[in-house]
Amino acid sequence: MTIDVDRARFDTPGCRERIHFNNAGASLMPTPVIDTVIEHLELETRIGGYEAADQERDRIENTYRACARLINCRPEEIALLENATRAWDAVFYALPFRPGDRIVTGRIEYSSNFMAYLHVARERSVEIIVIGEDAYGQIDLDELRESLDDRVKLISLTHVPTNGGLVNPAEAVGELARETGTLYLLDACQSVGQLPVDVNAIGCDFLATTGRKFIRGPRGTGFLYVNRTRLAEMHPHVVQVGSAAWTTADAYALKADARRFETWEVSYALQLGLGRAVDYSLELGVGAIWCRVAALGERLRTQLMDIDGIAVHDRGKTKCGIVTFTAETARADELLSELRQRSINVEVLRPQDARLDFESRQLPPLVRASVHYFNRNEEIDDFCNAVRDLSRARLVSRP
Ligand SMILES: Cc1ncc(COP(=O)(O)O)c(C=O)c1O
Repeated sequence: MTIDVDRARFDTPGCRERIHFNNAGASLMPTPVIDTVIEHLELETRIGGYEAADQERDRIENTYRACARLINCRPEEIALLENATRAWDAVFYALPFRPGDRIVTGRIEYSSNFMAYLHVARERSVEIIVIGEDAYGQIDLDELRESLDDRVKLISLTHVPTNGGLVNPAEAVGELARETGTLYLLDACQSVGQLPVDVNAIGCDFLATTGRKFIRGPRGTGFLYVNRTRLAEMHPHVVQVGSAAWTTADAYALKADARRFETWEVSYALQLGLGRAVDYSLELGVGAIWCRVAALGERLRTQLMDIDGIAVHDRGKTKCGIVTFTAETARADELLSELRQRSINVEVLRPQDARLDFESRQLPPLVRASVHYFNRNEEIDDFCNAVRDLSRARLVSRP
């Protein structure tokens, strides 16, 4: 199956006005997703919020089914939350860490995750073990294997970092987790939607992701996967009416499924939009999406590397649609604002976004250009011409 790019662009009004290379920030929603959100808001306006939710109950349930299909699990293993951080936090803070327990992680870890490790390290005397990287920049599997002993409570890994094209070997890590019976939490915020992510093949116990990036859903959506065999031992750190039922005056019963991590009040319009976005990806085929994204990413990387004064910083044996670079003649934020003036969207990543990686590679702030399947080769050419012009113009105007 290949992607019908004309059709995808027809469904993506935003791409007619700009070159959108900020899909790792928030992608452009396709029209069916926007329509779904608006239609539900209109229904709420006409008949009432509770009544609209009741009327659309089956379509809301479909969001769980769609997310489950996307990552190959059961709908009861899915909880819908407002973003990847909420989803990740929900399981992380439910883990009963004790003094001396260890969290094993990698160097490309996302800022919020690492700050949460620091938090439990401070509050519960947990140790954080950071595994080094192999020649490709991926988590070093030998070192990881060596580190896994009885003290390790959790392997917590970022699949694709916020600041580069690297794809960590999530399945190989899963094998080690299974061999040693260690819990495994995968931050798949930047991977789900751009490449096939199969929780059974990976063997993770928990996975968190967001809706607005490569899934192309609305902002304010995300979801969590909790392996059903782990549910019974996972008590959410907040108990409320969304996660449990108040059964007698002095007791409550947690929901049996992953929804024990949810809250009661949510935006059904956004959840329906997420479901439509996931279905849209599934209709295109995640394999086809990944083929195109990887090829576009490689083309962009190769062309940028050919420009004088531009350095590309991505590592990884497998590289994805996220491309990071710096220019000798301009700071990343200067490039971002000059590109934006030309209707080109990129993002800037700073050391505080992934501090261990930035510091170990001594990286300055990076420009992140991230492609998706609706982008075209011609946009990559135009983008590289713009980067070349901007970096040359600054060279010429130097005193
Ligand atoms: C690797 C990674 N993990 C987690 C997050 C947090 O996602 P969210 O903003 O949906 O909470 C991000 C956001 O950029 C990310 O890049």
